[in-house]
Amino acid sequence: MPNNIPVNQNLIDMEYAVRGPIPRRAMEMQRAGRTIYACNIGNPQALKQKPISFYRQVLALLESSDNIPRERNLVKFAKKKSHLLEENGISIIPTDILDYSEEFIQKSLTGMGAYTESQGPKFIREAVSNFINMRDKIDIVSDPDSIFLTDGASDAARRILELLITGPNDGIMIPIPQYPLYSATVKRCGGVEVGYYPNEEEDWALTPDILKDAYQNASINGVNVKCIVIINPGNPTGAILNKNSIEGIVNFAEEYNLSIIADEVYQENLYGGSFISMASIVGSRDIPLFSLHSISKGFSGECGHRGGYMEIRNMPTMKDSNINLSELLIKQASVSLCSNTAGQAILYMMVKPPKKGSNLYETYTQEKNAILSELETKAALIKESFKQMQGVECFGNTGAMYLFPRIDSLPKGITDFDYCMKLLEETGICTVNGGGFGQQPGTNHLRIAFLPSVKSITRFLPDWIRFHNRFIQSPY
Ligand SMILES: Cc1ncc(COP(=O)(O)O)c(C=O)c1O
Repeated sequence: MPNNIPVNQNLIDMEYAVRGPIPRRAMEMQRAGRTIYACNIGNPQALKQKPISFYRQVLALLESSDNIPRERNLVKFAKKKSHLLEENGISIIPTDILDYSEEFIQKSLTGMGAYTESQGPKFIREAVSNFINMRDKIDIVSDPDSIFLTDGASDAARRILELLITGPNDGIMIPIPQYPLYSATVKRCGGVEVGYYPNEEEDWALTPDILKDAYQNASINGVNVKCIVIINPGNPTGAILNKNSIEGIVNFAEEYNLSIIADEVYQENLYGGSFISMASIVGSRDIPLFSLHSISKGFSGECGHRGGYMEIRNMPTMKDSNINLSELLIKQASVSLCSNTAGQAILYMMVKPPKKGSNLYETYTQEKNAILSELETKAALIKESFKQMQGVECFGNTGAMYLFPRIDSLPKGITDFDYCMKLLEETGICTVNGGGFGQQPGTNHLRIAFLPSVKSITRFLPDWIRFHNRFIQSPY
């Protein structure tokens, strides 16, 4: 192996704070036996959020379809001898689950171990389109041929940015603060990040002026802005965009001839606002729109299964090329052969949940509501505690899985990184400092993911309040 191999500088320059120095220090502390409260990442099942049982029961049968006849026999047996099963602690898989799994198997034909169509099986893409149509209820319907199944939204973001960034002057507008997937992927693809700053004190609202300023500053510096990324609900802010802001973005994109990437992975995580999809506001206007969704968030929390989709509306035409964008996207997808099939199956279940009226629906709805209402409780507990921390303010209605309080009371020379590191060392609470997401110069923040159990949160909040009020007086 030769030494001194040149490697891609873009990868060296890329940064991703969510797994940066603070979480790395937390892992060291954990290995040394300290209790760590992992509030640094939106990874719900790592923090004991239970998977939706419908997803897992169906997935188990899809992976082991030979068990379906046996389960059907058990159902018959149970009708006659239910007491025997109960006495021996044997639970049977409901018929609804068996039917759902068999239907999936019939539609997919090739089974879980085979590569699928690169874009994703048509019946899953049809279910995704149907989900979008039911959600948005607008006249412009979703086209299954414009849906691409992906290994999560991260994969989708990479595919789109790889497609749009053609050289070192191509700019992508990104909200600041932002989920670092975008800054990292723009860097990886060799483009320029153009930050725009939603108005924190107006609950992170956006106005056309904010967007135009960012665009014009970039243009003056020779950047060719091509696209604007919107994260709604936001990460790290948790803010839910209102209709005015979304309309402003759409008008802006139309005026400046930009594509929009709408990252909508938190569309189910709303605790006090309602979600308006970008597609529903773009409507019939001729603006290229890439919308992303994922099985990782919401109430599914199936991060490790890596599933999601992107929908493209108003496919732009391509300069100087005789293939169209859709063909190019298919070619791009086909180089990775296909997205993983377990992720595809969970995505199908996410967009085609049990029908109202079935027994399955009852359990599914109960589990879903329990997860969402617990998240809401946890967010409220933490938000309430900020009132007891001097100089801490948290703006915006709550969405996603995060709170992003501003810390106005840090002594001169102390950064939010120092604060978060010391918070970790003293209390075991692992957060990510605002600088990791970008923030208005001169401000300090942190992001806390409200995923640990209510019990853990109630245990660590008093320590945090004590730490805070002492640290701002004497940080050393
Ligand atoms: C805004 C946003 N987009 C995308 C992702 C990544 O999602 P996925 O697991 O689907 O790749 C995350 C993960 O936290 C996120 O917060």
